[in-house]
Amino acid sequence: MCGIVGYIGSQQRAIDAVLNGLTALEYRGYDSAGIAFLDGETIITNKQVGRVQALRDALGDDKTAMTAIGHTRWATHGGVTIKNAHPHYNSDQTIAVVHNGIIENHVELRNSLRAQGYIFVSDTDTEVVSHLIDLYRRSSKTFQEAFEQALGQLRGAYALGVITAEEPDVLYAARLSSPLVLGVGDGMCIVASDPSAVMEHTRRVVYLNDYEFIRAERDGTYHIKDFKHSLPVSRKAEVLDYDATKAGKGDYAHFMLKEIYEAPYTLRSATLGRIRVESSTTKLGGLENVTSQLRYIDRLVIVACGTSYYAGLVGEYLIEEIAGIPVEVQLASEFKYRNEPFSRSTALLAISQSGETADTIAALKKVEDYGCLRLGVVNTVGSTIARMTDAGVYCHAGPEQAVASTKAFIAQVTVLTLIALHLSNGASKLYRPLLAELDALPKKAETILAQAASMKRLAKKYAHYRDFMFLGRGYGYPCALEGALKLKETSYIHAEGYAAGEMKHGPLAMIDPDFPTFAIATHSPLLEKTYSNIEEIRARQGKVLAIATEGNETIARLADDVIYIPETLDQTSPLLVAIAMQLFSYYVAVTKGYDVDRPRNLAKSVTVE
Ligand code: F6R
Repeated sequence: MCGIVGYIGSQQRAIDAVLNGLTALEYRGYDSAGIAFLDGETIITNKQVGRVQALRDALGDDKTAMTAIGHTRWATHGGVTIKNAHPHYNSDQTIAVVHNGIIENHVELRNSLRAQGYIFVSDTDTEVVSHLIDLYRRSSKTFQEAFEQALGQLRGAYALGVITAEEPDVLYAARLSSPLVLGVGDGMCIVASDPSAVMEHTRRVVYLNDYEFIRAERDGTYHIKDFKHSLPVSRKAEVLDYDATKAGKGDYAHFMLKEIYEAPYTLRSATLGRIRVESSTTKLGGLENVTSQLRYIDRLVIVACGTSYYAGLVGEYLIEEIAGIPVEVQLASEFKYRNEPFSRSTALLAISQSGETADTIAALKKVEDYGCLRLGVVNTVGSTIARMTDAGVYCHAGPEQAVASTKAFIAQVTVLTLIALHLSNGASKLYRPLLAELDALPKKAETILAQAASMKRLAKKYAHYRDFMFLGRGYGYPCALEGALKLKETSYIHAEGYAAGEMKHGPLAMIDPDFPTFAIATHSPLLEKTYSNIEEIRARQGKVLAIATEGNETIARLADDVIYIPETLDQTSPLLVAIAMQLFSYYVAVTKGYDVDRPRNLAKSVTVE
């Protein structure tokens, strides 16, 4: 989704800093980019449809500035055009604004501003911000006062970066429900939608909370203010633990491939220091401060979106089976508007790779006053969700850049397995076998990755189909849902995920020689039932590509093609199945020549509703 960057410093580096910051934010997905900087007391702007590189090329090498803001836009209000790209201005171009989020009352504000003579040149919700500041500036004592008054009128979600010709030595930024981080360096400040954009300059960061704004100056000094309560905020900078070298693509053709190949490392890193196989113990430091509250939990509601939601569904099976606690998984976008009974003995667990998903944040906000425990399984350290929850377990998967989530799913399911074990207090008969299996999984993951060549061959064979069914039972069911999502988002093939037992209740009608099925048929107590479903599909001339456990000869007779994964427990099978399905989707997308890392219409971090 949209990304913002703003830089102010004592050296003439602002344009490069903003362009590099925008490049670091490219993975979030965008369709146009723009920059505004101060040349003396004049604001100069450049906007381009397409890549940040187009902006770089247009600006050339000789541009210098000390203050600049920039933006990557993912269209929400108004088409992908230069006029809709940010920054947006007031009429005399003395105020420039970049924005990530949605101004929900923009129609009302636009009408009121129009009635007062303001002329709008774009279709965006953002343009109201520059005009609104302008309006308040007519009567305010200072620019800051006008900025604060404007913030008081905006509803919705925003991370804003603002510069003004009136104060060329100042950069303003503000936050409500959209991520914003301030990087603090020697004689400079940089604000951005996520830390990847500030890493080039500093590891010292301050995360902004809702209803806060920053006033940063050229010498690197800054002030934060809570504009809801009109109070100054004093918050120490944190030092980011981030290995920038891990953020590159390395020798891989795409980030998605690199991230799939990180699976063995991801599995190890999610369990590192948390499991001890010899002594059969688990240790989840992130849950230690809520140990006593966890004892009284009689129900867990998991909220998440997309792939994280499917990881949550695997978590439901795991926690119910291993810890015996009833679990309900809800889409965060539904949960936040539902009126359901929610007692204090229910804990809410939010799962999110980015930690910035608007719907998941809203779900957490909804229960703020319920007095219940709010837990998180989050990948991005320091993100909004990580900071909002009472306790949680980090995924430690490292930055995920491809829009399609791969290694984060692996890490989330691993962490949910650890949480299930933790909540079981060692009482489950699965405790020891699961610990041993978690320890063995990285090696098994490697053997799946070693099958890339045959996966490529299969992808070529199946890439021309327009539809795909994904089927699974038990732990294979959430895998089927996730497999279908991965294929449709990377390859634009219509794919449906179903519980295999549901086939006869409707979906079987779709099956014909042009509608193949990806059947998850790994070792499980339900395997024979899955065989019957495969037979039913074959009887209707449907093609079957199965994923099965090594050594299964029956499946070779039933299916057209088989992908084999190493023997594993039913409970850990989603971790290996997912890797195989991710590789398959990746190669189908490559075969079809699509932009694998940035599928059309999608953004990495969905920071608006
Ligand atoms: C799919 C995908 C999305 C995300 C979803 C939630 O591959 O990446 O479905 O899983 O947008 O994002 P997070 O986990 O950041 O909350």
